[in-house]
Amino acid sequence: MSATYIFPKDFLWGSATAAYQVEGSSMADGAGMSIWDRFSHTPGMMRDGDTGDVACDQYRRYRDDVKLMVDLGLKAYRFSASWSRVLPQGRGAVNPAGLDYYDRLVDCLLENGVEPLLTLYHWDMPAALEDRGGWLNPDVSDWFADYANLMYRKLDGRVKTWATLNEPWVITDGGYLHGVLAPGHRSPYEAPIASHHLLRSHGAAVKAYRAEGRHRIGLVVNIEPKYPASQSPQDLAATACADAYMNRQYLDPVFFGRYPDEMKDIFGEAWPTWPDEDFALIAQPIDWIGVNYYTRSVARHDETAWPVKAAPVRQIGATYTETEWEVFPQGLTDTLTWLKDRYGDIPLTITENGAAFFDPPVAEDGRIQDPLRVGYLRKHIRAVHDAIRLGVNIEGYMVWSFLDNLEWSNGFSKRFGVVHVNYQTQERTPKDSARFYARVAASNGGALADTAAPV
Ligand code: BGC
Repeated sequence: MSATYIFPKDFLWGSATAAYQVEGSSMADGAGMSIWDRFSHTPGMMRDGDTGDVACDQYRRYRDDVKLMVDLGLKAYRFSASWSRVLPQGRGAVNPAGLDYYDRLVDCLLENGVEPLLTLYHWDMPAALEDRGGWLNPDVSDWFADYANLMYRKLDGRVKTWATLNEPWVITDGGYLHGVLAPGHRSPYEAPIASHHLLRSHGAAVKAYRAEGRHRIGLVVNIEPKYPASQSPQDLAATACADAYMNRQYLDPVFFGRYPDEMKDIFGEAWPTWPDEDFALIAQPIDWIGVNYYTRSVARHDETAWPVKAAPVRQIGATYTETEWEVFPQGLTDTLTWLKDRYGDIPLTITENGAAFFDPPVAEDGRIQDPLRVGYLRKHIRAVHDAIRLGVNIEGYMVWSFLDNLEWSNGFSKRFGVVHVNYQTQERTPKDSARFYARVAASNGGALADTAAPV
């Protein structure tokens, strides 16, 4: 008998984006500059000099985009708010037009039966706050909690599912250690400080929510499971450090009130000692975890690798995406079961999963055939189902991404959307993967069983 993949009743099928990647008009109508406006306009930082000035123009086209979600039968939309759009200086005076944008977007989603999932911070720190030290300034947790409060007061109730931060690891590893993402710093001394202040800010925003909000708040993390290349003690130790650095560094403090032991070995003298009271703030109970999963890594010990002495081992015979990530659906099941085993039976939502592949141009009949993405989604959504069968409490799946969009410093060169965007005309064209995903959503997973059917 062939497998069936029916998901729990009320499973939330949706898609995801982030403000700077799709909105455009990032400094329109009184909005302030963010670190991504600044970074993307710095020569040499972005592939082909791309910026998010226009991106997918969702700021002006959100109604059409919501209509397209409805056409595809999507029941949820995970998006982020731009802090400097609502608070141009990051604190102090509110920009009413900016706040109004999210007000209208949320109303439009609700009127169309699409559940909003709002992430407060997806990487676009107000530039005015970066000038005061950004995530390195200990006051940032107060600034962030004030911004969060403003959003709760405006939208809580209509928004019932909140996330504080998107992927603190990427913010610090890309933005403070390797300098490839905004704000473009490169310092092993700064990275742990930025991480810690991100966690304190997360905690402060959760605490503020308990006073102001009535629904659910959580944290979105990217998990990339690490598998040892061999059973040698060196490879096993390198794998544990890689896992601590990327996967446990953020969740252990939130759930256990402490960092993984490996952090000190990784950063050496650059690893600070933190006051105990910080962990009381960080370890606020949260209501859900958002899981972003793209790939795994097979690790082998390498003395020259930095900051973790682990190098990834390329897997012969495996498929790699355009961003050079191995397609490994089992890693998603492993991640979800690991989260439950380690952190308990907390509700999980897959807040991002998807792939950049080369897409052919729109054909004359309007179709875009993207079989690799269809295959990726089919296998990964099946992997989610496997985890549910193993008893993990998973409430929803948000494909990354609804639209092709600005892939950060890779500019527009990598397309992750299930909907194609023509950046000259802003025309949206659902790819085969969007049609496939629509069938999966409409059948609550049933269509996953069917590998031969046309999309
Ligand atoms: C981020 C997205 C990004 C995606 C693909 C995640 O790390 O949250 O903003 O576009 O991965 O790289």
